[in-house]
Amino acid sequence: MKRIVVLISGRGSNLEALLAARLPCSIAAVISNRADARGLQTARAHGIATAVVDHAAQASREAFDAALAAEIDRHAPDLVVLAGFMRILGDAFVRRYHGRLLNIHPSLLPSFPGLHTHRRALEAGCRLHGCTVHFVTAALDNGPIIIQAAVPAYPDDSESALAARVLAQEHVAYPQAVRWFLDGRLSLDEAGRVRLDGEQRPGGALLVPQPDR
Ligand code: GRF
Repeated sequence: MKRIVVLISGRGSNLEALLAARLPCSIAAVISNRADARGLQTARAHGIATAVVDHAAQASREAFDAALAAEIDRHAPDLVVLAGFMRILGDAFVRRYHGRLLNIHPSLLPSFPGLHTHRRALEAGCRLHGCTVHFVTAALDNGPIIIQAAVPAYPDDSESALAARVLAQEHVAYPQAVRWFLDGRLSLDEAGRVRLDGEQRPGGALLVPQPDR
């Protein structure tokens, strides 16, 4: 059975969605850069090993990345899943996990990389907003796209209402992407393109590609 390690920084609702999806894998560990991340409690309640690698305790970004990689590698994962992990990872770290490092971002990339995506989408007058699961590359929030889910954004939306609408789709899209990987259907080819079942699949209307449901 394949092994995954999940990295979090906070609430951990995407971790909960991964757990609820009963994926065909062992979640070998949940690692946080913050000791107070609520998701650590969720992991412990499920009997999953947890660890904290505190970025503030490290002398540099490189030292943090190295300590994090050492902790991850203790669990020998096939896949590393960033689920609300709020630290920027350096080139060496990203290269080490090339093709087996996923992230979820709460916007339709390449629009709105970085923080405060929902507020920025509302300010820009977007009618469509959403989330993106992508392979991680050295560019921040900008790697090969695996799946995107779009939701409507309404002019009278609050930031929190829009965030909740997107989050509900994150909880669909992320388990789907991880399942594809675990089933050996998802990969990154040599040109850096995402392949699903060996192909670059065209998308459907709202959740692209369509999930297996
Ligand atoms: C999600 O919106 C995720 O896309 C973003 O941070 C949030 C984490 O939420 N990167 P949670 O910790 O999974 O509840």
